[in-house]
Amino acid sequence: MSEPIVDFDEVIERRGTHCAKWDLMEQIYQVPLDNGIAMWVADMDFRPPDVARDAIERMLGHGIFGYYGDERAYRASIQWWMTRRHNWQIEPEWVFSTHGLVNGTALCIDTFSSPGDGIVLFTPVYHAFARVIAAADRRVVECPLTENGGIYELAIESYDPLIDANTTMAILCSPHNPGGRVWTPDELRSVARFCRRHDLILVSDEIHHDLVMPGYSHVPMPLAAPETVDRLVMMTAVTKSFNLAGAHTGNVIIEDDSLRRRFGKRIEALGVSPNSFGLYLAEAVYSPEGAVWVDQLMQYVDGNRRIFDTISELPGLRSMPLEATYLAWVSFKATGLTDAQISRRVLREARIAANLGYTFGSGGEGYVRFNLATPRSRVVEAVERLKRAFS
Ligand SMILES: Cc1ncc(COP(=O)(O)O)c(C=O)c1O
Repeated sequence: MSEPIVDFDEVIERRGTHCAKWDLMEQIYQVPLDNGIAMWVADMDFRPPDVARDAIERMLGHGIFGYYGDERAYRASIQWWMTRRHNWQIEPEWVFSTHGLVNGTALCIDTFSSPGDGIVLFTPVYHAFARVIAAADRRVVECPLTENGGIYELAIESYDPLIDANTTMAILCSPHNPGGRVWTPDELRSVARFCRRHDLILVSDEIHHDLVMPGYSHVPMPLAAPETVDRLVMMTAVTKSFNLAGAHTGNVIIEDDSLRRRFGKRIEALGVSPNSFGLYLAEAVYSPEGAVWVDQLMQYVDGNRRIFDTISELPGLRSMPLEATYLAWVSFKATGLTDAQISRRVLREARIAANLGYTFGSGGEGYVRFNLATPRSRVVEAVERLKRAFS
């Protein structure tokens, strides 16, 4: 393993920088700005790889911020990353740039479903999906994950009766936020078969695909279930892997010609075109330097996870084994406390801003999600505070 190139221990002040995670924690969670710990929004308290800053410095040095042209190098960098890191061969013309993946999800819903349609979510799951579905006047069809041996599993057979003729799409989060699962190829195939059985478009949001714990490996949906590409939309982004969320850039990758034409037409109709900062950044980090950085990041997060998991020593608390993502999903159910009592102890007593589980849909009650992509000293402090609040 290579020597660390990044000092992930460095505590960088983010307050006062229009940073959602820190600057909004008082407004949203009433956690005090001066001594609270922000562990909610899924961005990291680390600087991205130096190659990202170098790219922006080159733009700054030139000093002109005009329209971006010629996406060949950008698309080649995506193609390189998917081959090199995910063993997934894509063609440059399969890639659409969107303003991030919430936008990508919204564009998929807009293109491939109609108002009133049902859209399957395997809940609990990343909360913005349900928000976008409801705002687009579609219906969320909740297919609940089951917990077996302390981890989430898909109970695919039990979902069949939940699907009606107006259910047209399923959104899978792979790896899973908030449960931290890396779905196995068999599980991915079962989702693909389910979508075929019910004639659903399958949107596979793989934004967390690079954030995999040592010892696990993520399999892209088209590799697990190649026969599903005629109904498959893949979504990836550099923003989650490299802490560039403010660049709001994401990729919707569609192999099937007919789906791609429909999506391209909708993008055209809505006048969506990429932001040049996002493209420069993506090209910079999809590189050997970016690869070293993300490997070291996950080793560091794994160290944070081990420290954080000691909260499972407290009666009634259990952190789900984290196979991917830097988001710990903690069950407080066995404490017998209500959601209001749990949130009072986490937010008021421990002064930690963390995502309350019920916001992730059915099954999230009794859970809280904690973001571990922060310097270790903060994780240690958060653990001490939680131990005081729940012992
Ligand atoms: C599964 C998933 N999709 C999408 C997003 C957000 O994507 P973006 O910032 O590109 O809109 C997140 C952020 O946490 C996420 O977890």
